[in-house]
Amino acid sequence: KANEVSKMMEAHELLKKFYHHLLLNTKEGQEALDYLLARGFTRDIIEQFEIGYSLNSWDAAAKLLAGHGFSLDMMEKAGLVIRREDGSYFDRFRNRIMFPIHDHQGATIAFSGRILGEGQPKYLNSPETMIFNKSKILYNFHNARVHIRKNQQAILFEGFADVIAAVKAGLPQSVATMGTSLTEEQARILRRNVESVIICYDADMAGIEAAFRASQLLTEAGCYVKIATMPDGLDPDEYVSKFGPERFRADVIDASVSFMSFKMTYFKKGKNLQNESDQIRYVDEVLHELAKLSNPVELDYYLRQLANEFSLSLEALRQQLHRYRQSNR
Ligand code: CTP
Ligand code: MN
Ligand code: MN
Ligand code: MN
Ligand code: MN
Repeated sequence: KANEVSKMMEAHELLKKFYHHLLLNTKEGQEALDYLLARGFTRDIIEQFEIGYSLNSWDAAAKLLAGHGFSLDMMEKAGLVIRREDGSYFDRFRNRIMFPIHDHQGATIAFSGRILGEGQPKYLNSPETMIFNKSKILYNFHNARVHIRKNQQAILFEGFADVIAAVKAGLPQSVATMGTSLTEEQARILRRNVESVIICYDADMAGIEAAFRASQLLTEAGCYVKIATMPDGLDPDEYVSKFGPERFRADVIDASVSFMSFKMTYFKKGKNLQNESDQIRYVDEVLHELAKLSNPVELDYYLRQLANEFSLSLEALRQQLHRYRQSNR
């Protein structure tokens, strides 16, 4: 079994180099390369992240693997090829931009292939295999770990393009969950390396909800969480393309706020705070959240902020908070 693991990793290593070569040095890879360059990926970045291109062919990878003595039966278990009814095999990844996924030691264990332009699925991923457990892997962690420790900060994104844009913008402490919600295992991995985590998810409904869940998990794991926000609808990669790296660092990452401040801003959406009943509803929602805080200093800070903002007495807020605490038990 140990032998099988190392064979599968070897196969991924071989294909990674094959895909990378096709992207940078061949006529077949030209369209994919043009697509990436147009999106703002540079040659340096393509090399750093070992991005590649899988040919528009049913068996280019299968042939290469077989030619190097890999058993295609094993390669199917590794998620690289798929078996047909007649016993032949075809490539899982065809005509896609290939992002290699590494384990935290740096071994190549999976791929995600992006379609050129529009289409479904946008990203095609390796299945779960003996060597790839998506819930235990953070994209780019093997590169980011040393920077996470040095900067005493990790930045968590949703996707490949976001991490790559962030690294390009001078933030090498960036990792991603690859679209799925953060797991307890991933939260623990982060916590083992750092206390402070900035969540920078897409500024859409799905991203905001995922940020809520991730904050909860990271806080439970013992991290200090901050949330970076962007104008509605943008994702970090789009933000960097539109406003540039300096503004991304200053106005998004350095301007990130605590989870509680984020929630306080979030609850304001769709309310008219000049209106009395909306105001009461807002204060009530915030108090429900504050009732969950265990740190008295933090609690005091937000209570005062709330009291000031709406000219309410601290005493009244404390009383109501106390009631919510009782009912939380
Ligand atoms: N994802 C996935 N499968 C899909 C769509 C998304 O695995 N069909 C994952 C990818 O890791 C992707 C992340 O979810 O990077 C975030 O999805 P999304 O925001 O839709 O994609 P972007 O990262 O913005 O991709 P791009 O900029 O290339 O459009
Ligand atoms: Mn980009
Ligand atoms: Mn998204
Ligand atoms: Mn996105
Ligand atoms: Mn994007």
